[in-house]
Amino acid sequence: MHSAVSAPAYNYKVVRQFAIMTVVWGVVGMAMGVFIASQLVWPALNLNLPWTSFGRLRPLHTGLVIFGFAGSAQFAASYYAVQRTCQTRLAYDNLAAFTFWGWQAVIVTLLITLPLGYTTTKEYAEIEFTGAIGMAIVWVAYAIVFFATLTRRKTRHIYVGNWFFGAFILVIAMLHVVNHLAIPVSWFKSYPIYSGATDAMVQWWYGHNAVGFFLTTGFLGMMYYFVPKQVDRPVYSYRLSIVHFWALITLYIWAGPHHLHYTALPDWAQSLGMAMSIILLAPSWGGMVNGMMTLSGAWHKLRSDPILRFLVVSLAFYGMSTFEGPMMAIKTVNALSHYTDWTIGHVHAGALGWVAMITFGSLYHMIPKVYGREQMHSIALINAHFWLATIGTVLYIASMWVNGITQGLMWRAVNEDGTLTYSFVESLQASHIGYVVRLAGGLFFLVGMLLMAWNTWRTVRAARPAEYRLLGQIG
Ligand code: HEM
Ligand code: HEM
Repeated sequence: MHSAVSAPAYNYKVVRQFAIMTVVWGVVGMAMGVFIASQLVWPALNLNLPWTSFGRLRPLHTGLVIFGFAGSAQFAASYYAVQRTCQTRLAYDNLAAFTFWGWQAVIVTLLITLPLGYTTTKEYAEIEFTGAIGMAIVWVAYAIVFFATLTRRKTRHIYVGNWFFGAFILVIAMLHVVNHLAIPVSWFKSYPIYSGATDAMVQWWYGHNAVGFFLTTGFLGMMYYFVPKQVDRPVYSYRLSIVHFWALITLYIWAGPHHLHYTALPDWAQSLGMAMSIILLAPSWGGMVNGMMTLSGAWHKLRSDPILRFLVVSLAFYGMSTFEGPMMAIKTVNALSHYTDWTIGHVHAGALGWVAMITFGSLYHMIPKVYGREQMHSIALINAHFWLATIGTVLYIASMWVNGITQGLMWRAVNEDGTLTYSFVESLQASHIGYVVRLAGGLFFLVGMLLMAWNTWRTVRAARPAEYRLLGQIG
């Protein structure tokens, strides 16, 4: 038997650490997003320095928000949910602590090396091989902690949320290793073992599944735990959740070629990627419906609970971006959308609307629990955050739709004699106002994030370490 004083039944320490770092990397990564959005409005902000140029800061933004913010969020949520649904303490305290410090070291490595110009040039896999090896080691430790905890469960079933977290962990390990296979030429430079179209295909097999697993599957695990918890009802359909799981992971892995339409990739591979992407709509919407319908009979709670509002609106944006994605995967639509801001709008419909919003809802639920508080310091601030985030996302997406379609149409317009109607600079001028609106949207979103940081700070300060260190008794 665990004694209440010496060994609390759950390890909440690592959850607290990852939850706090989610907020920290959220602020830093989104501030970087706002900065690069400003550079697209005022190019002088590149400051004429290599370290602060858009080309180096853009991958830093994506690295910080994807691995720092979204990554820490998934560590926190999976460690919290797996213990509670398995009714057992997280396996191997020291290894869990190692995943925390190791993961933070990886993000700090990104923060230092990307502005200095060290990069593989592969999108979302920019970290050079030394850092990539470190990342792989931390990830293996994560897998050991998570799956060992599952084997120690006191419940018969493995709750569906854990299936999603487990798939996320396994598939990311596979993608990361395969895409990073490279021949080093020095400590900070390596070249991929693949070349030409094969290299591109491996990269976008990775890239798309980074979206599918790093920005979707883990968050679906979060959805399956936190939505029923916050509504205080069981998930709408257990059967649908099983179908959803298997269909999603079986289909996602085939959709990568939609990033390489009209390239040197064989045509059949492009068509296969397109077909699989369209079919992907079904499991995506299956998951969304399952989450939404969990609220049936409890919709009135939305009126008074801003945390629930975050969770539900995130599902709505998930539905929207997984409708838009399959449409953009159709080759004729992609001929217009590719290279334009439409893609950027789609990305942030998923990133802000889905990934960030479900994280906010889940953290607002979880932070008070792991700090031994009834609720967050201020519910009014959660409400303000909700509106800032929603308005910010809408401004971001709408401006990028307008820009994207404008750019696509201007680039393809030809005169009767076959010459181009518009120069590239003219399309850039037409996009300027859209960039200003996107910046405003980004600022809304960032201010919301700062409110969250303040609210978290006040909640944590009000908590008593002597008490919350003993938290986590089963029951
Ligand atoms: C305040 C919030 C944010 C702002 C203002 C912002 C802004 C930007 C900007 C200006 C770009 C470059 C667009 C271009 O090259 O034309 C970008 C790219 C990107 N951002 Fe954000 N961002 C924000 C939040 C996020 C979050 C939370 C995520 C993920 C969870 C995210 C993921 C990405 C990704 C994946 C790209 C690359 C898109 C691509 O290559 O197609 N962003 N962001
Ligand atoms: C059924 C689901 C989805 C499908 C079929 C899909 C499809 C697509 C397509 C066709 C593109 C444009 C490729 C190009 O022209 O280069 C794209 C880009 C992208 N999507 Fe999605 N999408 C889906 C869901 C999502 C979600 C939920 C997110 C975010 C959480 C997301 C994040 C991204 C990112 C980051 C890119 C930009 C990749 C890059 O070029 O750097 N997608 N997606």
